[in-house]
Amino acid sequence: MKNKVVIITGAGSGIGEATALLFAKEGAKVVVSDINDETGEEVVKRIEKAGGTASFFKADVASAAENKALVDFSIKTYGQLDVAVNNAGIGGEANKIADMTLEGWHRVIDVNLHSVFYGMKYQIEAMLKNGQGSIVNISSILGSVGFEGSAGYVAAKHALNGMTRTAALEYSGQGIRINSVGPAFIDTPLLDQLDDEIKKQLISLHPIGRLGRSKEVAELILWLGSDKASFATGSYYPIDGGYLAR
Ligand SMILES: NC(=O)c1ccc[n+]([C@@H]2O[C@H](COP(=O)([O-])OP(=O)(O)OC[C@H]3O[C@@H](n4cnc5c(N)ncnc54)[C@H](O)[C@@H]3O)[C@@H](O)[C@H]2O)c1
Repeated sequence: MKNKVVIITGAGSGIGEATALLFAKEGAKVVVSDINDETGEEVVKRIEKAGGTASFFKADVASAAENKALVDFSIKTYGQLDVAVNNAGIGGEANKIADMTLEGWHRVIDVNLHSVFYGMKYQIEAMLKNGQGSIVNISSILGSVGFEGSAGYVAAKHALNGMTRTAALEYSGQGIRINSVGPAFIDTPLLDQLDDEIKKQLISLHPIGRLGRSKEVAELILWLGSDKASFATGSYYPIDGGYLAR
């Protein structure tokens, strides 16, 4: 990762945070982006303290203009863009379809799906100028199976996988590899809204007998972002403690 420039959205917490720390440890220059400047700045401080290079840029991924500004910031600060990890996401409103509010539906689609289209649109433009790049979109196991009470989230993650495959068909021939990663339930603040009983039930869905850890997902993202994954494009990579094996 030496001298590679990486954008990571939602890098102030959970999987994004672990990914930012890992890329920085491997020598990348990391653009840490989040809607929350406090947590994002904190991650930059931790990277710098460990001897790495990082800058924070505040962006709401649900805004096309802010996605463009994020890419422009990367080019202005570090001269290029090599890897983009479109990770920011929300759990969204937990209701069955008949009870879901229209606002709740639109919000989860904006933050978890439109965001990735906006991100890729500007990231690909920058990478084409560079002649190479790797994009990793963070999907979920719920990008391939359903989950009660999460129709918006599930729809967004399924669509994200289809968009990833299509983007790979369009740009793999021009040096840009594009993949998605599908974690099962990972112990991050995203799950804080769940009570202990529900967490126990969730654990039982993973044959491995526990929830995943952010660092375990970050290792897969790092591999996909690196040149070691030079033949990997257009695929969806579950990392799920056996969840989808049932
Ligand atoms: N935790 C899980 O069980 C799990 C499982 C599968 C997939 N995922 C996916 O992994 C990704 C990261 O999730 P996590 O568990 O690390 O969550 P998290 O809540 O720990 O972190 C998400 C980060 O995204 C930021 N964010 C939220 N809305 C944003 C916006 N509009 N613009 C910019 N940043 C925004 C938050 O401030 C936060 O720092 C998400 O796409 C999520 O859907 C998580």
